[in-house]
Amino acid sequence: MSVWDELNQIRTQVMEELGHVHDSQALDKLRVSVLGKKGRMTGLLRGMSSVPPEQRPELGKLINQAAEALERAIYERVRELTAIETGDRLAREEVDVTMPGKPVKLGGIHPVSITASLLTDIFVSMGFEVVEGPEIELDHYNFELLNMPRNHPARDAQDTFYIDENIVLRTHTSPVQARAMLRGKPPIRIVCPGRVYRVDEVDATHTPVFHQMEGLLVDEGIAMSDLKGTLDLFARRLFGEGVTTRFRPAFFPFTEPSAEVDLTCVACKGVGGGCRVCKGTGWIEVLGAGMVNPKVLDMCGINSARYSGFAFGMGIDRLTNLKYGITDGRYEFENDLRFLRQFGG
Ligand code: PHE
Repeated sequence: MSVWDELNQIRTQVMEELGHVHDSQALDKLRVSVLGKKGRMTGLLRGMSSVPPEQRPELGKLINQAAEALERAIYERVRELTAIETGDRLAREEVDVTMPGKPVKLGGIHPVSITASLLTDIFVSMGFEVVEGPEIELDHYNFELLNMPRNHPARDAQDTFYIDENIVLRTHTSPVQARAMLRGKPPIRIVCPGRVYRVDEVDATHTPVFHQMEGLLVDEGIAMSDLKGTLDLFARRLFGEGVTTRFRPAFFPFTEPSAEVDLTCVACKGVGGGCRVCKGTGWIEVLGAGMVNPKVLDMCGINSARYSGFAFGMGIDRLTNLKYGITDGRYEFENDLRFLRQFGG
């Protein structure tokens, strides 16, 4: 067969095959077999040697033109096929945006956190500042500076978690007071919310971890009446008008005089009678408080001849239980969603 005939044959064959090719892989194979280095068109150019020299330029031009035409035709087909294949893929991967989605479950705020921010909001509105301190605390701040010397019973290993001889898990948030006094000068007005730890068997009213909020105010001329006024206002803001405080004498090494402070019972509004929450007394005990012991002021670098102050501490968990009528404090630590979901947030 002459080179001319062969050229015609290749052209018709390729044009026909192009019509039958339905995927881009097969098309690519066809392209290589025609236009590739070892393809049929290249083969033709090589076969030129058998053609008389004077016909070669003419033939060469023909072959090149044919090759270009084929290339264009193949390229056209590539475009067609890609369009079809893309269309298919889009159809396959179509997302139905009208299908109902999977609901995203939002977390809520833990009831103890809700109470903690309520408490801090109340005191911040009175001009107190929120300060935090370490949960792993030096004995020095947790006990020593708070007038609880080496032989004090609260330091017993039965009551306190010791990391080593000098380091404890803080048993109250009062060490934050000591740190604040050492760091700053009066007037000092702070509240310190946080986790505290005590060795305790778990029951409805005891957990080895719980939450406290400590308050401290130090300035010139601070008297017990300031403490009483502050806590009265706090009680009304927390549980509503008509709630008052009752101070009973108590003892804390770091305050003198000290008081245990009761609030009007939230359940019976002070009526008492058969009330389960206050056991019929009309009062609920929620706070420890007192005038900062001058010894503590002096140990913490504050001149007790010039300054005086008051401090108080309350259990956030206990206030949460009272506020929401929760009868077993263990719920707060069990992460049972049926319990937690009741608080929204
Ligand atoms: N720190 C005391 C406790 O944990 C509470 C308290 C704080 C009492 C401040 C008086 C003054 O029991």
